[in-house]
Amino acid sequence: MNQQFPKRFMLVLGVFIAVAAGQVAPAESEEPTATKAPLTGQQVYKTVCIACHAPPGVGGAPALGNADAWAGRIAQGMDTLIGHALNGFSGNTGVMPKKGERPDLSDEEIIKGVKYMVEQVAQ
Ligand code: HEC
Repeated sequence: MNQQFPKRFMLVLGVFIAVAAGQVAPAESEEPTATKAPLTGQQVYKTVCIACHAPPGVGGAPALGNADAWAGRIAQGMDTLIGHALNGFSGNTGVMPKKGERPDLSDEEIIKGVKYMVEQVAQ
């Protein structure tokens, strides 16, 4: 009878468990250190801008997907639209609050929100 067999089996099993544990452990330890990912344009719209820009548009806000409401605004150029969204804007129909009242969002996130809304009518 081969006395080596159980030992070898245990060794192989031990290596297998070590490898399996090694594959699981790093994936778990990465989670808490991951930085907060920036919101996409659609996420910015859905969490912030939607409060006023959801159809039919609240307080004079141009509604998402309403080409008539957006055409004249888009004609001003993206820089103007972005500037108005970042800094706030009082136009002919109402008041666009600075960053949609979310100063905690980055400029990049607000810009992506503007682009998302423009894309919904520019297609
Ligand atoms: C509290 C309501 C409110 C929220 C929230 C809001 N908006 Fe507005 N927004 C308005 C109103 C009202 C106008 C129209 C102002 C006018 O032309 O008189 C407007 C206009 C705009 C315009 C057009 C500006 C122009 O020059 O014609 C852009 C771009 C815009 N909003 C982007 C955003 C983005 C991006 C968000 C989300 C981050 C957002 N808004 C959130 C009310 C809001």
